[in-house]
Amino acid sequence: MGLIPYSRQSISDDDVTSINRVMRSDFLTQGPRVKDFEKELSSWFGVEHAVVCSSGTAALHLAYAAAGVKEESLGIVPAITFSATANALKYQSAKVAFCDVSPETGLIDPESLGQCLEQVSDEQKEKTNVVAPVSFAGSVAPLEKCSALANEHGFAMIEDASHSPGAWKEEPSGSKAKSASGQWEDAATLSFHPVKHICCGEGGAVLTNSGKLAESAEKLRSHGIYRPFGETHETPWRYEQEELGWNYRLTDLQAALGISQLKRLDGFLAQRRSLAARYRECLKEKPFCDHFELPEVDPGNAWHLFVIRFKQEGRRDLAHKFLKERNVLTQVHYVPLYRHPYFERMMGKIRLPGAESFFKGCLSIPLYAQLSESDQDQVIEELGHFVNQFA
Ligand SMILES: Cc1ncc(COP(=O)(O)O)c(C=O)c1O
Repeated sequence: MGLIPYSRQSISDDDVTSINRVMRSDFLTQGPRVKDFEKELSSWFGVEHAVVCSSGTAALHLAYAAAGVKEESLGIVPAITFSATANALKYQSAKVAFCDVSPETGLIDPESLGQCLEQVSDEQKEKTNVVAPVSFAGSVAPLEKCSALANEHGFAMIEDASHSPGAWKEEPSGSKAKSASGQWEDAATLSFHPVKHICCGEGGAVLTNSGKLAESAEKLRSHGIYRPFGETHETPWRYEQEELGWNYRLTDLQAALGISQLKRLDGFLAQRRSLAARYRECLKEKPFCDHFELPEVDPGNAWHLFVIRFKQEGRRDLAHKFLKERNVLTQVHYVPLYRHPYFERMMGKIRLPGAESFFKGCLSIPLYAQLSESDQDQVIEELGHFVNQFA
């Protein structure tokens, strides 16, 4: 049996043709495909502006910096996320605070966010601060509630939507919340890493309805340099650097792949949704399913990950090892960020009950658009073998 990864990219002949065309063109980086990709992204997500860049991490860094985050700032992030959500705040030398998540979904817990915000001093509230909910695993974070809390305390809000392009959810108010739509957040960020819904090799984007934020992100993406004069000016060559930015540019090669992949995003979402529903249907029939909790199937979930949660402590680690020996690769998303030595050295020992409970049992089993039903059946069968051996 071949190896079944927890996630992988899907590359079509059209994807390859798009890249090949750029290979023979005049521009390998920052040519017309970058602009085209930005146009296609803003139209797909229904936002005013998309600024593409070299990774999801770069997108977070650009979004925070463009929102005004700096040394004196504070950023609040959920404890269950990838390091990048918090690291990009540290790139700006900002302070980081972790808030708790739901033990069932791993999504930011608005009650814990409210408590974190209550503890922020009036002096700190004078600065530019940010809340960064993560639409973890493909489920939309409680954006409406987070945004109300952020507004109440004068914080900006950046959604980390790396896991959730195309995700939507009914909000308690009856409105339909869409991930990365600019409805509640100042900006949202995407990642185009190969394990994500669409890939560029590496890549990311900042999506926003704010012209000011987009302009700043675009400038910072390329050293903070901009061209003050148009082509008709006597010195059109002139460029100026107003502030310190980075080289976070996406190449035309990557943008061409991104454009081609974006055309397939609706199909990818449909495949992921159907596979997630099938996992649930097949697993809940099995007696061994008593040993773990399954994620709720909610129609708007974008299903980046299918995270099961083992009920008995220690089982998750045994399952990871057992499955790996049988060519089924799984992952743990995530170790709570405060447990990493870098953050523990900085912030001391933190343990948040929701994040700890989620972390203890969580295991992401293989899910990607082209996962075949026979490979999916294999994953289910091996899970059954695991439970029979260790229960
Ligand atoms: C939630 C989250 N945010 C940010 C990132 C960073 O994205 P990239 O790997 O494209 O830098 C990732 C990547 O895994 C992620 O999962």
